[in-house]
Amino acid sequence: MDQLRTQTINQLPSGAALIKRELCYTICFIFILISSIIALNLGSSSRSLPLFRFDHFFPRKLPPPFPHTHPLRACDYSYGKWVRIDKKNPVLLYDEDCPFLDPGFRCHRNGRKDIEFLKWRWQPHGCYLPRFNASDFLERSRNGRIVFAGDSMGRNQWESLLCMLAQAVSNKSTIFEVNGSPITKHKGFLSMKFQDYNLTVEYYRTPFLAVLGRRPITTPPQVKLIVKVDQLHWRSKQWKGANVIVLNTGHWWNKEKIAKMGCYFQEGGTINMTMDVMEGFRRFIKTLVSWTTKNLNPEISHVFIRNHSPIHYMNGTWDDGGVCDAATEPEQDYKKLRPESWNNQYIANAIKEINNSKVRLLNITYLTGFRKDGHPSKYREPGTPVGAPQDCSHWCLPGLPDTWNEILYAQLLSMEFRTK
Ligand SMILES: *[C@@H]1O[C@H](CO)[C@@H](O)[C@H](O)[C@H]1NC(C)=O
Ligand SMILES: *[C@@H]1O[C@H](CO)[C@@H](O)[C@H](O)[C@H]1NC(C)=O
Ligand SMILES: *[C@@H]1O[C@H](CO)[C@@H](O)[C@H](O)[C@H]1NC(C)=O
Ligand SMILES: *[C@@H]1O[C@H](CO)[C@@H](O)[C@H](O)[C@H]1NC(C)=O
Ligand SMILES: *[C@@H]1O[C@H](CO)[C@@H](O)[C@H](O)[C@H]1NC(C)=O
Ligand SMILES: *[C@@H]1O[C@H](CO)[C@@H](O)[C@H](O)[C@H]1NC(C)=O
Ligand SMILES: *[C@@H]1O[C@H](CO)[C@@H](O)[C@H](O)[C@H]1NC(C)=O
Repeated sequence: MDQLRTQTINQLPSGAALIKRELCYTICFIFILISSIIALNLGSSSRSLPLFRFDHFFPRKLPPPFPHTHPLRACDYSYGKWVRIDKKNPVLLYDEDCPFLDPGFRCHRNGRKDIEFLKWRWQPHGCYLPRFNASDFLERSRNGRIVFAGDSMGRNQWESLLCMLAQAVSNKSTIFEVNGSPITKHKGFLSMKFQDYNLTVEYYRTPFLAVLGRRPITTPPQVKLIVKVDQLHWRSKQWKGANVIVLNTGHWWNKEKIAKMGCYFQEGGTINMTMDVMEGFRRFIKTLVSWTTKNLNPEISHVFIRNHSPIHYMNGTWDDGGVCDAATEPEQDYKKLRPESWNNQYIANAIKEINNSKVRLLNITYLTGFRKDGHPSKYREPGTPVGAPQDCSHWCLPGLPDTWNEILYAQLLSMEFRTK
């Protein structure tokens, strides 16, 4: 922008040339405008739409939910709408037979009858999500490492990606956990090898991303756990050098959860009994920014920080009778979306501060907010006691996290990702 302005000032053209150039700009603009309108209309899935949908430009019917920081760009995948797929049986990338799925995410096996929640696809405004091509993704990642680190939402997304990629591998026995560990939510570290591609897709269970430790003996008895806001989890040294790193955290940085666990924050070796969760998170994000800046080799690593995945407990909270099993279709009214979680602002600021094109926001909050229909709800893993709380936080698989991974793939394509 500044460069452009300087140029214009430095080389003021003569009057006639100026008019000529203006005219040319105007014609170009009109041409682009018309082309865009046509392209947008061709791209629309509904037959009944009028030819000229000016609401793409003046989105009165569907205004942005929160102040929209960037104008309509070719591929802002974060903003759009859920479009129904007009098919009896949706084309799935994989099904519940995928061997890498946690029992808790296999909603049909656990009794869910409707498949309505699978009949929606995310349609960004003004562009398309590229079709997910598993063999292309695998080929681009040859000899590489893809790392997911964070809480169980990260595991949800990791399992989704394993199943999406496995579609391109005919002999599933060539995909295995390097240490022979079973996929369970209790494991702290799992690394799946795609033998034919010499690729590992890894998951690190680090709910705070920061160090979570036991209380030192000398601390007051109410302290049960400590989060060290100035240290990244010790496993983070294994993330260095990975080709794709997808980080997420947030669900545990929660006032109620912190209080319930007796969790306090530590900085510089001392526990701060008065530091609240927002301040703790703010300081941790600073740590994350400096870790990323220091340890990232932009030649190798592509880092994505995923923002908050909204939960949908209705008529109560997660531990107080909240439910979501009645929801069988996405929310239609963006006005009913809950406000963004406060964590998001800190995450967005961190990305801005890092200011490196290889570190990006995986902005899924808005699109996810609509999908109250996609949670396991009461169809939890076998053995869950009757009357246990519903799961309105995680996602059925196949299901919503597949879209997060489609967006991840799309962003990697736009970065021309390929291991060397
Ligand atoms: C994330 O996406 C939503 C929807 O497009 C948008 O309103 C929000 O500003 C985005 N957040 C950031 C930090 O870009
Ligand atoms: C997927 O990518 C591979 C290249 O790895 C290509 O040969 C194939 O045509 C692609 N498939 C589709 C459906 O685009
Ligand atoms: C597999 O990838 C690793 C890097 O992750 C590399 O060091 C190793 O040489 C590769 N093995 C083969 C057989 O190409
Ligand atoms: C599938 O892969 C496994 C592990 O590499 C191998 O032992 C087995 O022979 C393969 N099966 C077929 C049909 O190729
Ligand atoms: C504890 O944290 C608060 C902010 O939450 C800060 O104002 C205070 O200075 C900290 N105390 C120490 C001893 O660092
Ligand atoms: C919430 O509670 C109200 C009143 O008890 C009931 O009418 C409604 O169906 C409940 N909603 C859900 C989603 O269970
Ligand atoms: C981001 O980095 C670029 C150079 O890589 C610099 O020109 C720009 O001013 C930086 N922006 C901010 C907000 O720091």
